[in-house]
Amino acid sequence: MQKSHKPINATITAVGMYVPEKILDNKYFESIVDTSDEWITTRTGIKERRILENGGTSFMAVEAIKDLMKNFPLNPEEIDLIIVATITPDMFFPSTACLIQEKIGAKNAWGFDLSAACSGFLFALQTAASFIESGRYKKILVVGADKMSSITDYTDRNNCILFGDAASVVLVEPIEDLNYGIKDSILYCDGSGKDTLYMKAGGSLFPASQETVANRWHYIYQDGKTVFKAAVKGMADVSYEIMKRNNLTSDDIAYLVPHQANMRIIDATAERMGISRDKVMINIDRYGNTTAATIPLCLTEYYKAGKLKKGDNLILSAFGAGYTWGAIYLTWSLD
Ligand code: ACO
Repeated sequence: MQKSHKPINATITAVGMYVPEKILDNKYFESIVDTSDEWITTRTGIKERRILENGGTSFMAVEAIKDLMKNFPLNPEEIDLIIVATITPDMFFPSTACLIQEKIGAKNAWGFDLSAACSGFLFALQTAASFIESGRYKKILVVGADKMSSITDYTDRNNCILFGDAASVVLVEPIEDLNYGIKDSILYCDGSGKDTLYMKAGGSLFPASQETVANRWHYIYQDGKTVFKAAVKGMADVSYEIMKRNNLTSDDIAYLVPHQANMRIIDATAERMGISRDKVMINIDRYGNTTAATIPLCLTEYYKAGKLKKGDNLILSAFGAGYTWGAIYLTWSLD
């Protein structure tokens, strides 16, 4: 394939999503840990989340891709690349991208998984955009998918109320009209956050053993308060930074599309940007924190509901384990 010398943007040309049927509401958590609907609602904004009972992350991703293909024409053999943002792959290897590639018959695609926790979708979207801008690739599937229930300790009230399972996908393609598509991104990571949010075992440092299981090291550990403070600052600062760098005022922005970890983090980010609640995409109440899936889930739901229109300026923003965080500025190009 030839490298393009013509300036092009990368843009989202199709969306799809999957959420499992099983719902765990706040009342359920009242029955398994010492908590209350009132505490969860006021501290997080979450009312319910979806749980996948059978299957792994690739199952949800494939269902999301089927949803995309139902609504947008796409021949799987035309897909060049599959990038999967996830921290809950079916297995360490082969990659979830390989499993998806086979299941959807993307015979001409290559692909890989990308680990950036709650910022995974943004990291993957920017990676896809760079591949598109290089001119080498034309159709890239960017999947955000996580089965958080597989690494959640349902005896730990600090964490179990937060997470849910879901998958969502976007198709990224070139667009010649530079008024549309992905226009800027600012991405960061800072490993000094490594001790506040992690899953200790299962990797090469602490392979699975009786000790790791007994110590519950195969579950998410989070120092919620410390992460909360870092997330408020990280998400608000980077969202403001990308606005300023692109000379955008709050009036120029149709929607803030924030990672859905905690309603209070979302509110703090919107406040810093001077954006009112009606211009913030929210679905945390119904799905909780689905890690890499939250942002494309928001995009898909708002698009399907007819709330997103061509020309809308969006700021996508996230913060997650690592720490990882960032923001992407794009202009929506789908009718
Ligand atoms: N029900 C009732 N009480 C609870 C619960 C619960 N489910 N969980 C904690 N508490 C208690 C705590 O024990 C504590 O009690 P104490 O004061 O007697 O010690 C009290 O509530 C306050 O606890 P905090 O941790 O201070 O609560 P906070 O207001 O910080 O909310 C939360 C906790 C929701 C986890 C918040 O800190 C948060 O959202 N953190 C950031 C999450 C995030 O953004 N993570 C990054 C993405 S995730 C990823 O990348 C995988």
